[in-house]
Amino acid sequence: MIHIEEAIELLRNGEVVAFPTETVYGLGADAWNPSAVKKVFDIKGRPADNPLIVHLASREMAGGFAAEIPETARTLMDRYWPGPLTLIFKKKPEVLDLITGGLDTVALRWPNHPLSQELIFRAGPLVAPSANKSGRPSPTKAEHVLEDFGENFPVIDGGTTQIGLESTVLDVSEKPCTIYRPGYIGKKEIEKTTGEEVKIGESTPPDETRSPGTRYSHYAPNARVRWLEENEQGYSEDTLYLVHSRRRNMESEHDNLISYRENYERMANELYDRFRQADHDGYKSIAVEQLPVKDQNHGIVQALRNRISKAIGG
Ligand code: TXA
Ligand code: MG
Repeated sequence: MIHIEEAIELLRNGEVVAFPTETVYGLGADAWNPSAVKKVFDIKGRPADNPLIVHLASREMAGGFAAEIPETARTLMDRYWPGPLTLIFKKKPEVLDLITGGLDTVALRWPNHPLSQELIFRAGPLVAPSANKSGRPSPTKAEHVLEDFGENFPVIDGGTTQIGLESTVLDVSEKPCTIYRPGYIGKKEIEKTTGEEVKIGESTPPDETRSPGTRYSHYAPNARVRWLEENEQGYSEDTLYLVHSRRRNMESEHDNLISYRENYERMANELYDRFRQADHDGYKSIAVEQLPVKDQNHGIVQALRNRISKAIGG
């Protein structure tokens, strides 16, 4: 674990450090230093065609990367920045191709966490994918980062992250705006703010080339994740059960049955830690109660569905 002063020093020297945001921990590097950005891909084991989000600490910083900021984007920035909303813009030519994986767009986000704000304000814009090895669950605690990258890895400890799932990724470079990755800020909420229709782009094939990250298997522990069958009877000792509906909660909690009682924010906050913990505890599988598809009002419910489906392999 390192102090913020040490982190700034390392970043200025082209090194990579992990830091907390309100969503998950990020693996940060100077967005203007090609060798530092390259290190992020190497350390994570990330495919070169999966672009990175540039993290900012002010709206002015966006001007260094976005070629144009459409009116709709301004409205969203006013409302949600700093916060868990990543916006995709047409990029300026000087933005490193390494960051964007050759796309003509760049993803920008201003995280709302005091430590990340200070770090980026002082060290400059940082590329920062989630601070996990590719394919592993994103880190919501500093300990998770050390688990993936070794106990001496430089990480600023900010405790448990507040939201626990990655930011909403919204393409504002074309109309209609398209959600590539659902997050805490949901479709309905964005539509209400902009007064425009928002498309869900995630699972349709053309969008896989638009947002390459959606193509790769993600967020998976070693235990096999599956949906709990509607009428599944009996419990198996080697399975961890995660349930959320009131009906399922008629049954009492055991060590291997966690009830969220419709508290989806808590479920989101704990999900990746439960995944990692299940491996430590030796569970062979994790059975999660299916989440409602229709409830578009809750960004977090859609985000949970998405991350669990990805962990299952869908
Ligand atoms: O909450 C978060 O967003 C966290 C924290 C650290 O800020 N970061 C994060 O980064 O989740 P990462 O690299 O794990 O996920 C970035 C996602 C990927 O799915 C990637 O494909 C997509 O954003 N993305 C990045 N740039 C893009 C672009 N220009 N066009 C489309 N999708 C893009
Ligand atoms: Mg990630």
